[in-house]
Amino acid sequence: MSPTEHGSDDPLAWARDYTPILESFREEYGENQPLDGYTVAFASHLEAKSGVTIETLRAAGAEVLFAPSEPQSTHGDVVDALDAQDGITAFAWEGMTDDEFDEAQHDLLEHEPDFILDDGCELIAKVHAEHPDVAAQVIGGGEQTTAGITRLEAMEEEDVLQFPVYGVNDTPMKHFFDNVHGTGESSLTNIAITTNSIISGKDVVVAGYGYCGRGIASKARGMGGQTIVTEVDPRKALQAHMDGHRVMSMDEAAEVGDLFISATGNREVMRAEHFEQMQDGAILSNSGHFDVEIDLPALEEMAEETTTPKEGVTRYHMPDGRRLNLLADGRLVNLTGPYSQGHPAEVMDTTFAMMFMAAYDMLVDGPDLEPGLYNIPDRLDRAVAERKLDTLGVNIDEFTESQQAYTEEWEHPDSSF
Ligand code: NAI
Repeated sequence: MSPTEHGSDDPLAWARDYTPILESFREEYGENQPLDGYTVAFASHLEAKSGVTIETLRAAGAEVLFAPSEPQSTHGDVVDALDAQDGITAFAWEGMTDDEFDEAQHDLLEHEPDFILDDGCELIAKVHAEHPDVAAQVIGGGEQTTAGITRLEAMEEEDVLQFPVYGVNDTPMKHFFDNVHGTGESSLTNIAITTNSIISGKDVVVAGYGYCGRGIASKARGMGGQTIVTEVDPRKALQAHMDGHRVMSMDEAAEVGDLFISATGNREVMRAEHFEQMQDGAILSNSGHFDVEIDLPALEEMAEETTTPKEGVTRYHMPDGRRLNLLADGRLVNLTGPYSQGHPAEVMDTTFAMMFMAAYDMLVDGPDLEPGLYNIPDRLDRAVAERKLDTLGVNIDEFTESQQAYTEEWEHPDSSF
């Protein structure tokens, strides 16, 4: 096989080595193929780890249709390698425009999937809005990210959901690891590589102290950054304060920050009034799902011109001579920059294992669920945690009989007070 665009002779090989839970699924389900007869739609950032997940769904018997969840994060060599396999169909290519991205998702939905594994609720929202006949036949879905859960909650509130969806993002085995450690490490790694600039000693402003923001802030501090957190929730702000970060409003932070990273899932977190205050050379980036956290139209309107001092960096020249440097066009900095590879594979192993379990549970175990948004059953979350520990060779304790009984009683007859 000749080397591919991204320089490897098998674009999935490296990721396979670091995703042992997915490997265990292929081994366990490869022979009797419990997903045989089902068509599973899969939307995600399309690179090696999601590629291994697609391969794993296929190994378990599903016919897989896949599309990107972000137009700019697709690795073409991975798409080509998957599309060449029997039973897997790509609705994706590298360098898609936003319109092509939308069209490809609609094309995919016209192939009538039984189950939808989504990232950002793009497929699930589109199937409800524009393919109601298809939606009526869908057995269920799973949603991978916080931004998608927010949309699903809005759909549930309006009572428009046509099928049950597992909120995979909200399960501990997803957000404790993917959002905190995955987003934390990969955002800072990609910022450092894109800028070839040091984090240590910089005033690093993290907008949002949810799971992602907490991971970014703690890892930035671990690299020597002077961390500042902005929040709208007083409890999260207090938590950041007690964790040792400086907390201030974005108005205040804008004046002192060297590096800004937003992870709020909200819009216009950095906007004109903040761009007015920022220092010359400030670096702006976003780790939230959609490219609306930095108000780009405002930045474009304010700047006299833009230049590209380095691949992945757009420099906005302000009329007063200040230069503001935007990374990855304000899209997910860990996934869409020129060097971005997304989260570390070991972390995506647990996230994608939970996505796989969501499909397996609804399609094979067939719980009788009304349309709506559901938490993943705790037994599935624990099962994936146990598999992960197994693959790491880590042993843990089990309750003794008396400890188990102790957790179930309320009178505590043996205590001395
Ligand atoms: P979360 O809900 O745990 O945290 C968001 C935090 O932002 C909350 O504490 C909220 O109070 C705060 N916030 C909201 N509006 C704000 C504003 N205007 N200013 C300051 N703070 C504000 O959500 P989580 O899990 O941390 O996800 C955040 C975003 O990151 C979502 O869009 C999610 O989809 C995305 N995400 C991105 C990943 C990546 O690979 N880059 C991976 C996982 C999630």
